[in-house]
Amino acid sequence: MKRISHYDVISWGYEYFTEKLHGGHRLEAIDLLRLDTGQAVLDVPCGTGANLPLLEARIGPTGHVYGCDFSAGMLARARAKVTTAGWGNVTLVEADARALTPETLGSSGPPTIDAGICMLGLSVVPDWEQAFDRMYDLVRPGGRFVVMDLFLAGKRTSRLANGYYRAIAQAQSTRRFWEPLERRCEDVQTIDHEWFGGVARIVAGTKRG
Ligand SMILES: C[S@@+](CC[C@H](N)C(=O)[O-])C[C@H]1O[C@@H](n2cnc3c(N)ncnc32)[C@H](O)[C@@H]1O
Repeated sequence: MKRISHYDVISWGYEYFTEKLHGGHRLEAIDLLRLDTGQAVLDVPCGTGANLPLLEARIGPTGHVYGCDFSAGMLARARAKVTTAGWGNVTLVEADARALTPETLGSSGPPTIDAGICMLGLSVVPDWEQAFDRMYDLVRPGGRFVVMDLFLAGKRTSRLANGYYRAIAQAQSTRRFWEPLERRCEDVQTIDHEWFGGVARIVAGTKRG
């Protein structure tokens, strides 16, 4: 039997708090994906599907959203959004981001995915570089990537904030989460917002062809 995870438990109030803190970052991050109508986008980890309305507004009914998360509780909320909105172009899978393959996403061959987004994920997923690599492999050359997370290191205030995010979100906000994207993409763009002595950082780039 699957163990109930921390995120299964906090899923009920997750969006209420997260959107107050990070709703603006979410909008900026999704803008940097530069999505067009009809494109396919991968959202890992998708959590409660907070990105879904924004992604759907950009890709429309001819596009496709693939979302993956470990937590059944978080995914149940994402699935409820899909049902309520009547979106027929969303595939949500309960899976480990570190082992993501085309088959996990329900595709018999490699799906053509135009963009990948990871919001508040690389600070949480263990072996986070592996999770980034799996996502990177699934997006087509020339496709877009955005990672958003917190980097809270150095100052006393940021260390306190890091302790808060560790307790609430099981996050390790001292990871240099943007570096794999920086190494493997071109046209890299960074937006920083001061965050309790650290930064809320959004980094976007294009997969080399
Ligand atoms: C802070 S939430 C972010 C959710 C979403 N990206 C957002 O912006 O709201 C972190 C998510 O990572 C998921 N997670 C943690 N480890 C994971 C793993 N190995 N594979 C897939 N999801 C994982 C948790 O279940 C949780 O939903």
